[in-house]
Amino acid sequence: MKFPLAERMEYIAPFQVMALLERAKQLQSAGRDIIHMEIGEPDFRTPDTIVQAGIKALQDGHTGYSPALGIPALREAISGFYASHYGVNVPASRIVVTSGASGALLLALGALVSQGSEVLLTDPGYPCNRHFVRLLEGLPVNIPVGPETKYQLTPDHLAQHWNDKTVATLVASPANPTGTLLTPAEIQALNEACLARHGRLIVDEIYQGLTYGVEAQTALALSEDLFVINSFSKYFQMTGWRLGWLVVPEAYLDAVTRLAQNIFISAPTPAQYAALAAFAPDTIQLLEERRHVFAERRNTLIPLLTELGLKVASEPEGAFYVYADCTGITDDSYQFAYRALEETGIALTPGLDFGSYRANEHIRIAYTADTHRLVEAVERLGRITRT
Ligand SMILES: Cc1ncc(COP(=O)(O)O)c(C=O)c1O
Repeated sequence: MKFPLAERMEYIAPFQVMALLERAKQLQSAGRDIIHMEIGEPDFRTPDTIVQAGIKALQDGHTGYSPALGIPALREAISGFYASHYGVNVPASRIVVTSGASGALLLALGALVSQGSEVLLTDPGYPCNRHFVRLLEGLPVNIPVGPETKYQLTPDHLAQHWNDKTVATLVASPANPTGTLLTPAEIQALNEACLARHGRLIVDEIYQGLTYGVEAQTALALSEDLFVINSFSKYFQMTGWRLGWLVVPEAYLDAVTRLAQNIFISAPTPAQYAALAAFAPDTIQLLEERRHVFAERRNTLIPLLTELGLKVASEPEGAFYVYADCTGITDDSYQFAYRALEETGIALTPGLDFGSYRANEHIRIAYTADTHRLVEAVERLGRITRT
């Protein structure tokens, strides 16, 4: 039967990894031992201090809407976090609490993108970005990037791809799927290149704090004119609480406020009260211990992958992903991911989820399992890579 379906739906692709995850669950319920290295969320539970604060919030009756931009105490706490951890003054008035980084992305892009507006993105990159731009009737410009630029955009890319329809550039540092960082100087250069063309830079800092051997940074130290996306999902390990934030340039505050009121009414209130405990010293201490665990896993995994014939062409310094070139083993990463799952019980994400540029030559491997399981995963993968 014919039914109306928006034209844009043609462009909104599903996550490939979902079908793979489904199959992994099927195999698991049939008794197979699956090692999950495909999922983009920490394997740690939310710290108990945060959980307890969440329970108390529910018991205290914080179950209604909150102000559209977030509870004042949390906006102040985030501002305080920028001051104490990064030495940067970010007034609470520019901090908007959102439903995850996803909500923050939608608000930032919603304030910038008109019909036909172009937004510069990386390919590979976080897939929802291009879908958000398309949802807003804009055009995502997916720029192929490789290890020569750490899979990041440069001012040269902007010079090449910017036209009179371009309104913004969106980058992530640390990035998904590659784990690579932009240095402050590189972000500065991108920001200047955007501003010179009367556009804006959006920096997704969702993996902020999850860096290894490199100090965590914020682009907010460089400029008040850029948008910064952040979240409680990754470093704070609160994916399911659906809480994040957006730091908004003054000139866009009114627009973003109106969008936040209309699209979300508010971010989840109990989650906001829970997140007040996220910045407490004992919570941060636990999160830092867990960051060291991630670092140890990363340092164990990368050399093992290299031995297996998977090439890690640009050092991942953050997040919890390795984006590996698998051309030494296969020319079809999608089929390889399925084979790895069926034959060895290892779940990986094929490059296709992150774009189209050399996608079938790459897989993303998340180190969201204990070190001994990662070692076992590589041993099992060896069975198919050596045949
Ligand atoms: C780069 C990037 N941005 C944004 C998000 C959305 O995260 P959330 O909405 O859980 O904060 C993700 C999730 O994996 C991501 O990897």
